[in-house]
Amino acid sequence: MEKFYVVTPIYYVNAAPHVGSLYTTLAADVLARYYRLKLGKDKVFFLTGTDEHGQKVAEYAEKAGMTPQAFADSIVPEFKKAWKLSNISYDYFIRTTEEGHKKYVNEIFEKIYAAGYIYKGIYEGMYCVGCEKFITETEMVDGRCPLHPDKDLVLQKEENYFFKLKEFAPRILKMIQDGEYKILPEKRRSEVLSRLEQGVEDISISRESVSWGIPIPWDEKHTFYVWVEALCNYYTATRIVEGKAHFWPAQIQLLAKDILWFHTVVWQAILLAADIPLPKTIFAHGFFTINGQKMSESLGNVISPAELIGKYSVDGARYLLMSAYQFGNDGDLSWSKFDEAFNADLAHGLGNLVSRVAKLAEGEPGQERPTAFSDSYAALVETCAFDQALGDVWKRIKEADAYLNKHEPWKIKDDPQKRAEIVLHVARMVVGIAYDLQAFMPDTAEKILQQFCGEKIIVGQPYFMKLS
Ligand code: MSP
Repeated sequence: MEKFYVVTPIYYVNAAPHVGSLYTTLAADVLARYYRLKLGKDKVFFLTGTDEHGQKVAEYAEKAGMTPQAFADSIVPEFKKAWKLSNISYDYFIRTTEEGHKKYVNEIFEKIYAAGYIYKGIYEGMYCVGCEKFITETEMVDGRCPLHPDKDLVLQKEENYFFKLKEFAPRILKMIQDGEYKILPEKRRSEVLSRLEQGVEDISISRESVSWGIPIPWDEKHTFYVWVEALCNYYTATRIVEGKAHFWPAQIQLLAKDILWFHTVVWQAILLAADIPLPKTIFAHGFFTINGQKMSESLGNVISPAELIGKYSVDGARYLLMSAYQFGNDGDLSWSKFDEAFNADLAHGLGNLVSRVAKLAEGEPGQERPTAFSDSYAALVETCAFDQALGDVWKRIKEADAYLNKHEPWKIKDDPQKRAEIVLHVARMVVGIAYDLQAFMPDTAEKILQQFCGEKIIVGQPYFMKLS
């Protein structure tokens, strides 16, 4: 692989970021940091940003007594602050209200319009503002949106521009079957395939009634439907930022299962229609609940990145989120599970091992800094098996502990050479562990590497104090 381009969804600016948005962004950050070390800094491009148009944002802005632009401008710093705090190393933060994005969205859709894939028609349907999409009869549960049962569906009937999605469906189906782009994990791929097999309708790509959006260049009474222009951000960013054009197509797009269809079918059809190459892999992870409940403002159980980091430190929070459950599955988070894992894995496991070894090896010559990740760990990170990659590292932490307990170097008083051999063997294990941890826990890993890879091994500050 010569370059690596990773993207997260762009998040709505209706609210400040929470651990849900952090979860995807963090996974992307792990990949970006990993590939920067593997391929070189300039070989990686990591994009995240905000999705700022559409009815939902306009409604929140109105409630706040602000213009949508001023409202978005007030939320964007919250995202940037949260990502800085969480040590997210994005290369570019795209906003869909920036001029460059609008310019390239227009370029894409003018091309699609000229190619004859867009036509005018009448749309009538029940719209969910929470999802920013029409909900079909089959999707409804008790006549309501399954994801936003508290929000009334709104009957909308208006003249729209339609995109000939149906025409692309067979090609997309075949491309997925032939592996021309991958949908991971496998169960998501089957989900998309079976929905494609059931048949697909054309989709409306414009709104006459929503003024907060990008005007359609050939008919400015209409604005683009927020989803179709937002999807283009992954591509427009590579045009907006100088010198990044070669990064398209993306190696991987990360997102959660709620927005799978848009990312595996609608986005691909737009690209095919505009004759732009498709991203290589779409990975949709699961959704997590908090103590078995959906995270929502009305339940008051929304966890912010700052809260999590305040309690467990940046690297602690990063570890806890990425190790909590299998990436790709649904999971459940809770403060008590976090506390338990923090004490067992970080205070007792990693923290304890590093202090123990540093004390034993203090003053011994510093060890060589590795230049590559361990094979088993690398294979897991590269397939987005983040929890398992961490499991692999923690297995080695246990092995290092067991090695020390078996050889008991503290009891060797009369054979300094043997003692040093044992101690340096385990110091090298710690160095390997720290090297691999750089993608997940960058600050901690760097501190450990500095302790063990300088001129002499030194004792440092303790890591991750046990929570009482
Ligand atoms: N703006 C759209 C995406 C447009 S992309 C062209 C959107 N934004 S969102 O702010 O609602 O973010 C959705 C994403 O946030 C999910 O796909 C997922 O990446 C993340 N998550 C939000 N809540 C989550 C959980 N409870 N669990 C896991 N991920 C979650 O949809």
